[in-house]
Amino acid sequence: MKIIKTIAAMKNAREKLSGTVGFVPTMGYLHEGHMELVRRAKSENQRTIVSIFVNPAQFSPGEDLDSYPRDIPRDMEMLEKVEPDIVFIPSPRGMYPPRFNTWVDVEKVTEHMEGALRPGHFRGVATVCTKLFNIVQPTTAYFGQKDAQQVVTIRKMVADLNMNVEIAVIPTLREPDGLAMSSRNVYLKPDERRAACILYHALKLAEKLWAQGEKDAHRIRQAMIKLIEEEPLAEVIGYVSIAHAETLEELHEIKPPALVSLAVKIGKPRLIDNIVLE
Ligand code: PAJ
Repeated sequence: MKIIKTIAAMKNAREKLSGTVGFVPTMGYLHEGHMELVRRAKSENQRTIVSIFVNPAQFSPGEDLDSYPRDIPRDMEMLEKVEPDIVFIPSPRGMYPPRFNTWVDVEKVTEHMEGALRPGHFRGVATVCTKLFNIVQPTTAYFGQKDAQQVVTIRKMVADLNMNVEIAVIPTLREPDGLAMSSRNVYLKPDERRAACILYHALKLAEKLWAQGEKDAHRIRQAMIKLIEEEPLAEVIGYVSIAHAETLEELHEIKPPALVSLAVKIGKPRLIDNIVLE
């Protein structure tokens, strides 16, 4: 497992690799969800590259950029068990030198949900992924369904800009009580951690109502909101959305595949989760 910290060295190392290259972009503070992406990439490619970069461009002012959890030695320990060929850890200055002025803006699918709550977030994600794809030149890049709008945005970007990379998506990894694994879960105090499984319960309720024949998206949203409001530690409902799985436009009548997603603030972090109604 080689650690590379500059873009020049990464490009150089990439030139020497032959065969298929699987790539897993991350912001570090790794957990089992990330590990699953690396394992999938390894099982499907001759070479595997993981990047760790807390991308300043995707944090809005006032968000948790400075306090975002970082622990490279711990990440390395975890990665050593899965052994990707290369771990690429660029610096913010290397990625965004002075007078950096070029941005990738994916329209429409970024308007709602996370995009509405976090202005500029997906511009930052699309730009850093473009840069990383150009540097790493992967055959396939691996993303988690946990960040469903990110997946839709990256797929759209790759299609619209004819990028030479396949996008693979893995299902959301969860804790035993259903909470989706996330680097931000470390912010949760014990009682908040217990309350956090309300997101999963709300998604399961949507799935149950849909299975019972309910097609009215508004009624399902209302039932989910009511359930979340019964949890005193679930502070603000960012959004509860039932949208077309590709365009992400809100639905009145549910037609599968529909993406049910939600953002709920529990204590400090705003947690997100989703399921797809097939
Ligand atoms: P990060 O939050 O570190 O996530 C890296 C990858 O892990 C993303 O594709 C994310 O969807 C996936 N992931 C996170 N939690 C998961 C879980 N519980 N199950 C399965 N996959 C999970 O997402 C980012 O970083 C950044 O936006 C990035 C794409 C690296 C661009 O900066």
